[in-house]
Amino acid sequence: MSSMRAVLVRKPGEATELELGEAPRPQIAADEVLVKVVSFGLNRMDIVQRKGFYPPPKGASDILGVEFSGHIEQIGGDVRSVKVGDKVMGLVGGGAYSEYVAVNQAMVMPIPHSFSFVQAAAIPETWFTAYQAIHFVTEFKAGETILIHGGASGVGTAAIQLAKLAKADKIIVTAGSDDKTDFCKSLGATHGINYKTEDFQAKVLEYTGGKGANVIIDMVGAQYWDKNLGALALDGRMVMLAFLGGSVIKESNLAVILKHRLRIQGSTLRSRSLEYQIELRNAIVANVIPKLESGDLKPIVDREYSWKDIVAAHQYMESNQSIGKIIVNID
Ligand SMILES: NC(=O)c1ccc[n+]([C@@H]2O[C@H](COP(=O)([O-])OP(=O)(O)OC[C@H]3O[C@@H](n4cnc5c(N)ncnc54)[C@H](OP(=O)(O)O)[C@@H]3O)[C@@H](O)[C@H]2O)c1
Repeated sequence: MSSMRAVLVRKPGEATELELGEAPRPQIAADEVLVKVVSFGLNRMDIVQRKGFYPPPKGASDILGVEFSGHIEQIGGDVRSVKVGDKVMGLVGGGAYSEYVAVNQAMVMPIPHSFSFVQAAAIPETWFTAYQAIHFVTEFKAGETILIHGGASGVGTAAIQLAKLAKADKIIVTAGSDDKTDFCKSLGATHGINYKTEDFQAKVLEYTGGKGANVIIDMVGAQYWDKNLGALALDGRMVMLAFLGGSVIKESNLAVILKHRLRIQGSTLRSRSLEYQIELRNAIVANVIPKLESGDLKPIVDREYSWKDIVAAHQYMESNQSIGKIIVNID
């Protein structure tokens, strides 16, 4: 079996456990394509997986990485939708931190003409997650108000733009610095809250005349639970994407969930069935890619790294300084 270069985890732990090494080159099934990866995006889950707390879904590569851009190098016997040499980007269950990745033909997406491989690698995970949260899970409607936590994160920067496209009334974001909230406003947020200096629940109620937000995108969890419940409007919906601020609540009054008829839903992407992911991919190709191509939407890239500097790239993500995506180039 031929081999390829890949980022490997020596043993679960800190970023310094990452190293460039050799792994078997993936074999493709009849409905898959082999992509020669040019760039891949970093995601928070990569850090959790690196630490040994996030096993990849069954059947996926145990190499880190869920999004890539590159060229199609080889196609399986049943592949009709793409050809060798096509420039593509996409989402995988694992394995993007390597020279080659095997992907189902229905999951690859053409790279918008004006986009570099770096910009393309910044699209799949964050735009899929934000689109899924806004349209599939919370069923956001024009004229509603949305509160987006982690506004300057990869997911947050996509969610702000998608909420604007969906004709939100108010787009309120939280972030950990004034620079970050200012950047979010440049993308279309109408209000920015620096959660380190301001009480987000009080500010949301102030900005909405006491009504609250119709939709919340949360990734903080326990630390924000009570304030999130208090910041939701009647018939409000909240999607929970992660627990950056913990997952255990010691005490909480749930009465408001009944009183305000709240809907709270968790959301995952990586563990969803191929059929579900294809449905989401098709919605993105129809509704998001043309807007990225026209410049109405833009992927936000904070920094790019060579994969020789993968340790520094992970450490930078863990420092919480980034605005938008961190992209790594294979060279
Ligand atoms: N469930 C899913 O399907 C799914 C899919 C993709 C991503 N996610 C999750 O969504 C989140 C965003 O992902 P990403 O890749 O876009 O992340 P990212 O770009 O790395 O940004 C995450 C940001 O969250 C903020 N943050 C970190 N710890 C925090 C805390 N304790 N309280 C409040 N804010 C905190 C930091 O910004 P500040 O300076 O503003 O604090 C940080 O820069 C991650 O937690 C990720 O695991 C979930």
